Amino acid sequence: MKHTDIVEILKGDFLGKRVTVCGWVRTFRDSAQVAFLELSDGTSFSRLQIVVDKSAIALDGECTKNGASVCVKGEIVKAFKGEGVELNAEEVVLLGACPSDYPIQKKRTSLEFLRGIPHLRLRTNTFNAVFRVRSIAAQAVHRYFHERHYVYVNTPIITASDCEGAGEMFRVTTQPFDAKYASEAEYYKNDFFGQKAGLSVSGQLEGEVAATAFSKIYTFGPSFRAENSNTTRHLAEFWHIEPEVAFAELPDIMEIAEEMIKYVIRAVLEECPDEMNFFDSFIEKGLKDKLWHVVNSEFGVLDYTDAIGILQKADAQFSYPVEWGCDLQTEHEKYLTDVVMQKPVFIINYPKEIKSFYMKQNSDGKTVAATDLLVPGIGEIIGCSEREADPEKLLQAMKIRNMDLSSYRQYLDLRKFGTVPHSGFGLGFERFVMYVTGMENIRDVTLFPRSVNNIM
Ligand code: 4AD
Ligand code: MG
Repeated sequence: MKHTDIVEILKGDFLGKRVTVCGWVRTFRDSAQVAFLELSDGTSFSRLQIVVDKSAIALDGECTKNGASVCVKGEIVKAFKGEGVELNAEEVVLLGACPSDYPIQKKRTSLEFLRGIPHLRLRTNTFNAVFRVRSIAAQAVHRYFHERHYVYVNTPIITASDCEGAGEMFRVTTQPFDAKYASEAEYYKNDFFGQKAGLSVSGQLEGEVAATAFSKIYTFGPSFRAENSNTTRHLAEFWHIEPEVAFAELPDIMEIAEEMIKYVIRAVLEECPDEMNFFDSFIEKGLKDKLWHVVNSEFGVLDYTDAIGILQKADAQFSYPVEWGCDLQTEHEKYLTDVVMQKPVFIINYPKEIKSFYMKQNSDGKTVAATDLLVPGIGEIIGCSEREADPEKLLQAMKIRNMDLSSYRQYLDLRKFGTVPHSGFGLGFERFVMYVTGMENIRDVTLFPRSVNNIM
């Protein structure tokens, strides 16, 4: 159907022109002579007002119902009230009626209710704004890396290696559900790949392969985690941005992470003014000031050991005890970001026992050159490290963890043939979108969230 996007019309270039628009009716107001429809086609956060002169057009009642889809022809004129434009209708054609059991009604808009209708919730203001921001942020991520000569690579989704070595993979199999074998090895030998396979938890290991050829690469794709974490910040399927940079040490990659985050936040603030005003008013008061402050100030840096000291002296009751060597729990991270730093903070140099095998071992023999970026309200949004480039130390770390070395032969080869210092990080895209929109549940920033017991 030939028609014009509402976003184009709202820019003002169509004044005095005749156009055709298509969309869904969002509101309807009636008076003696004139009726008003607000139409959204989803190409902009704002809607187009349609003015219907009832003496000239017989308006089909079905076209006035919330959620009905219509096609309207008419002339674009200056808005009668306020600035902007509106459309004087010459013809209003019903495309699809929307009966009164349409669940998107003004009264029922709690996010929890909307989570139960993922196929319809996108037609609300909130989700319109979330996904528009998500899209602009994704474009900005690509632009940031592209402008800096990174090669965008797509790493495999089906993999035989578990990047984190932590066994949180979903299995990929074509075996019948009642397949019976004498042993696990026999079972997998008969499976599609002739060995155990799963969905990738991270593209990092393949990213390292590409970075040791192209120097600067990034991936932007789905990662899968079968962890049983039913929280507001965990998904079983999330989108993962993973740059990997050769000739970069921990401070270098931290600088890149900070610069990238600021670049993307600025892009969202500048390119999504309507959406950000909406979030600022209805989702998180003061959001825009907070984000501009993030863009214009330095992120904090805190050594893990100092963080433990701060937590031990904290005037707060934690459910998990704090001692050197412990993993930071959400409550600890929240205290550090929300109470102590009140801005994004890199925690650096974690104990090697609680981090992954591939992280560069520091000379103290106890810690690794790794960092998590924590932000107020959410906690960890980035996991980052310099990678162990020394083949002997890497082997030793893998052996301590009883890892199957045969599945990491290629990875070890990278250290054998022209090894280089290199570093990378993983940014959880949904957590980032939560941070810039103020949305508090990760299920509300992804189209169809997958989590424990939930695959609607
Ligand atoms: O800290 P993680 O596990 O680090 C890695 O996967 C590294 N291989 C990244 C790298 O160095 N290339 O995950 C990175 C980020 C987390 O900080 C978090 O933002 C996000 O991925 N993340 C999740 N997001 C939503 N749901 C989950 N279950 C997530 N698990 C991790
Ligand atoms: Mg992590």
